[in-house]
Order: sequence, then C-alpha cells, then structure tokens
Amino acid sequence: MKPVNVGVVGLGTVGAGTVDVLSRNAPEIARRAGRDITVTRAAVRDLRRSRDCNTAAISLTEDPFAVASDPQIDVVLELMGGEEVAYEVVATALQHGKHVVTANKALIATRGNELFAQASEAGLVIAFEAAVAGGIPVIKVLREGLAGNRINGLAGILNGTCNFILSEIREQGLEYDAMLSEAQRLGYAEADPYFDVGGIDAAHKLTILASIAFGTHLNFNSVHIEGIEHLRQQDIIYTDELGYRIKHLGIARKEERGLDLRVHPCLVPKDQLLANVSGVMNAVLIHGDAVGDTLHYGAGAGAQPTASAVVADLVDVVRTLTADPGNRVPHLAFQPDELAEAHSLPITEIECAHYLRLSVRDEPGVLAEVTRILGQRRVSIRVISQKGFGDEDGVVPVVIVTHRAREAAVAEAVTEIEKLDVSSAPIVRIRLEALD
Ligand code: NAP
Ligand code: HSE
Repeated sequence: MKPVNVGVVGLGTVGAGTVDVLSRNAPEIARRAGRDITVTRAAVRDLRRSRDCNTAAISLTEDPFAVASDPQIDVVLELMGGEEVAYEVVATALQHGKHVVTANKALIATRGNELFAQASEAGLVIAFEAAVAGGIPVIKVLREGLAGNRINGLAGILNGTCNFILSEIREQGLEYDAMLSEAQRLGYAEADPYFDVGGIDAAHKLTILASIAFGTHLNFNSVHIEGIEHLRQQDIIYTDELGYRIKHLGIARKEERGLDLRVHPCLVPKDQLLANVSGVMNAVLIHGDAVGDTLHYGAGAGAQPTASAVVADLVDVVRTLTADPGNRVPHLAFQPDELAEAHSLPITEIECAHYLRLSVRDEPGVLAEVTRILGQRRVSIRVISQKGFGDEDGVVPVVIVTHRAREAAVAEAVTEIEKLDVSSAPIVRIRLEALD
C-alpha cells in the first residue's frame, strides 16, 4: 500500500522528538499501522536553526499554511503551539481534507468545540492524546477503556513543570527560579512558562479531561485556576511535618449541584500514591462507578514521551483512514449531539479542608481571637501549631489545618484575621484533599 505522507508544523521539542521516534521505530510502526508513514514536509519559524532530528529527507518551509494545504500530504501534525496561528493552521488542514494530530491543549481547550464540529462535518479526525499528561495514554483510557462507566471524578498531577519544581524544592532544597529555568532547559515548560506555574496549562488539560469524562462541551472558563507562584519553602516543610506533600492538582468532580472543576496547589496525605509522584512525572486518578479507582502514571512532558503519544495518535489515524467516518470514536467520547453544557459550581460553593499559615505577633490572646473568628463561621480546627518564637518584630508563623468547611466561610475568616492588628502578612491558604 502507498505510504501515508505526513506534514509536521513545528520541529521544536515535540516535533523533533516525533520525527525521531517515527524514523527510529519505522518498521514496528508500519507493522502496526498497516503501511509506511513518511514525513515529507515540515514548517519551522527559523530555517537556520539546527534540529534535534534528521531532516535530510524532509522539505522545510517557514510557511505553516504551505504544509496545511499541501495536496501531497494526508495527515498534518500541529506541533507549533499557541492559539491563533495554530487554529488557522488546523482549520486550513481540515479545509484541505487532512486529518490532524495535535499536542496543543490550549488550542483544544479553547477552540476545540469549533474545530471538532468542522472536522466531523468533513469526516475527518483531530487526535490530541499528547495534549494531556504527555506520554500517558489517558485520553484513550477515558474515551475507550472506561466507556462502560459513569465517571464520578478524577484528580491528577497534570503539569510536569510544576511537579518538577515542587519536587526539586522539597527534595533538594533548591530555589524556585532556578528550578523553573531548569524545566525550561529540559524542554518541559510552555513557550510562556506562566502557563505552567500560573496553572493555566493544567486547566487546559483538566478542561479536556472533564469534557471526555462527563460528556460536556469544552468550557475552559468553568475551571477555577490557581498556580504555584505563591508557595514558599517553609510551607513545603511545615506540610511535610504534618504528613502531607504539596501537589499541584487538577480536580474534576460531578456533584449533584454541578461540576466541581479546579486547578490549585493541594495538600495530599503522604500515603496516597499521587503524593509520591515526583519530578516531571504526571499521574491521573480516575473513579468510575463500575471499575472503581484506576491510576495512570508516566512522563508528563519532554520530547520522547510526548512523541510517544503523538505517534500513537498518528497510527490510530492511519488505521482508520479507510473506515466509515460515522464509526470512528467520537472526539469527546460521547456522540456530538449527546454532549451537554458544562455547568460548574462557583469555587465559593465547594467544601474543602484547608491549611492556613498565619504571620501573627506572639502575644497573649492572639490564638483565642483567631479561633473565635474561625469558630464563628463554623470552620472547625483539626491542628494548630505555632512554629518557634517571634522574629525581631515579635512575629511568628502559626499553622492551622481545618476540617472540611465551606470555601466561602474560610475565605471570610481569612479576610477578617488578616485585618487584626496582630496580623502582619497575608495568610497563605492551601486546600487539602484526602483523595479517599
Ligand atoms: P517548541 O519547542 O517551542 O517548538 C515549537 C515549534 O514550532 C518550533 O520548531 C518553532 O519553530 C515552530 N513554530 C512556532 N511558530 C511557528 C510559525 N508561526 N510558523 C512555523 N513554525 C512555527 O514547543 P514544544 O515544547 O515542542 O511544544 C509544541 C506543542 O506541544 C505546544 O502546543 C505544547 O503545549 C505541546 N506540548 C509540549 C510538551 C513538552 O513537553 N514540550 C508536552 C506536551 C504537549 P522554530 O524552532 O524555528 O522556532
Ligand atoms: N508544559 C507542559 C508541562 C508540557 O510541563 O506539563 C506537557 O504538556
């Protein structure tokens, strides 16, 4: 059978990794796909830059639309990132009858509804396994492996950069800025690393997972987002003493009142498997009503793990090239006309336990005042601990772990405590999830 011609837009970390895997494992991949797969053309921004893959047999261009519209190309791999140009490239490829494989979670989370509609109309596929959790085939798991289940919820470490930074700070005592630079050097971080540390990248991924898990349209704006920039080493030490690790989690739960969708740092008990996922690794815990808990673990970023997911999608696409479009696995797992709107709960309506770190003066009556404010709002205290003695200004850290309480009540109490004369800095507040 004639080989499948592939055009690649972007030969950076993921694009070069993909070309490398396709050439290194070509015989095995062809045996799986049923025919040879050849990368014939690729677009980059700068033709003079050297590449981490062999481009001898690839015709290079600086025009991504030349690849997207090339009549010789059957499948386009969109591995350039970003939203606007990437959207136009994918739309152009679909207009020209090409299937698309992408690793771009920002694109799928924010423009996926339109692109999937365009693709379905044209009988084409947009595959996006690499967009969530790097090399872990979690999209396939949710969309196909767990198709018999009602999914009640999932929680995951979805950003390799954040997990790498938090792990290195805790394990090596290294500085936040140095670890972010290292994540960039290793190719884990997004082009704008604020997407990683600000929680946006994890929210893009959670948007996609929630949609596939619950059968809703993609709705990025329904996710509550917090990043890791405000975390301090002392919080990592104090929570460790209390028996927890701080992880940046994406959480999606189906509640009776709506969907609970959030991304934020979280205390996780040390004996939970998710607490022990370190470095660039990702893990996703999924609860289905029939299967119970399943946990999926692997590298969440980097050239080769992400290429593994891109190539798996490509093999799937090649296998279905001749299949009846109506019989393909739907993009978002549920048939397009069965998708519901995603109604999410405001963050103020969720219930959660909290870790609070106060900076207060070490004086008589201070703790009584703090506990009074929490008690008045029915926020019950599980642990309270003063850390050492006051500094030169008489200010001391006080750590509190609460029982589960209404988010709004905790937020009100925090605001009131911060207004006390004895309070000298904003309170650090981190949610706690037992994950049981
Ligand atoms: P990257 O290293 O910055 O590579 C981007 C590539 O796209 C570069 O080769 C760049 O060309 C090319 N490019 C950008 N704009 C272009 C334009 N207008 N025209 C032509 N070429 C253009 O990024 P990456 O880390 O590989 O990420 C690519 C995508 O994969 C993103 O959507 C990202 O979110 C996703 N992803 C990344 C990872 C990871 O671990 N890095 C994991 C999963 C998913 P030049 O090289 O000439 O600048
Ligand atoms: N920047 C992303 C991360 C790449 O660190 O997880 C993988 O999606």
